[in-house]
Amino acid sequence: MVALSNYAEIVKECVKQKIDLIISGAGIPKELPEYVKGTKTKIAPIISSLRCCKLIVKHWKNKYDYTPDMIIIEGPDAGGHLGYKAEELQNEENKLENITKEVVEYIKGVEEETKCEIPVISAGGIWDSKDIKKFLGLGASGVQMATRFVATEECDAADEFKQAYINAKKEDIKIIKSPVGMPGRAIYNNFIRATETTKCKIEKCYKCIKTCDAINTPYCITKALIEAVNGNIDKALVFCGSNVYKIKEIISVHKLMQELVCEL
Ligand SMILES: Cc1cc2nc3c(=O)[nH]c(=O)nc-3n(C[C@H](O)[C@H](O)[C@H](O)COP(=O)(O)O)c2cc1C
Repeated sequence: MVALSNYAEIVKECVKQKIDLIISGAGIPKELPEYVKGTKTKIAPIISSLRCCKLIVKHWKNKYDYTPDMIIIEGPDAGGHLGYKAEELQNEENKLENITKEVVEYIKGVEEETKCEIPVISAGGIWDSKDIKKFLGLGASGVQMATRFVATEECDAADEFKQAYINAKKEDIKIIKSPVGMPGRAIYNNFIRATETTKCKIEKCYKCIKTCDAINTPYCITKALIEAVNGNIDKALVFCGSNVYKIKEIISVHKLMQELVCEL
């Protein structure tokens, strides 16, 4: 997350540890090539529009002569932080399929110019094999999925987190205003309700997010996300994708993968 106060420090450590790939979102990773140039660590920015994609490609080219190693498009149906204003989420031009077509077209030109291969990956609301096939048909090299993999036996989140997914109804999924300063998609639980209806204050600030205004922010996002992973759902921010209400059971990754590839 570019929004982290110690973003540069974390990236440098990843490079030192010879991490293969850094996927960077929650902000525009303008300086990312500076930390990886000349190393084997690859970098992939997360973008939410063609405009954002062009900005990064041009800036990286001009300042670092660096071409992205991969592009991840996170559309408006993704879980967690979203790169749109809340009121833009329903716009036709922001549909993942529309952004995918535009970005694939633009990246083709960049590939020809730079002679580099740049896979484009689509993410957000991709549910089944048909969806995957659709995005591959639009020219994406792959898809990124999160929500369905949370509800697997292998996912290391607490069982209560997974149960919150199974119990979620369509009307429980809301766009919340995250302390990071971006909208986010989450399950509207008692915790979120309390932060919106009563005066809450942060008990301890870890100064983890550059833009977080600890005095006026009702809760600490780091703490709320850790509570979710640990299963303390009544104190937690439970991020989820827009399709979470379709999840009915916890299955193995093997079974999920079999289902996901069945029509490819
Ligand atoms: C619980 C949860 C936490 C997430 N946290 C992050 C995150 O920290 N950074 C990020 O870039 N994307 C995050 N995402 C978004 C996913 O990486 C992914 O692109 C997106 O949710 C895909 O859509 P899907 O969940 O509908 O499959 C998160 C998603 C979920 C469900």
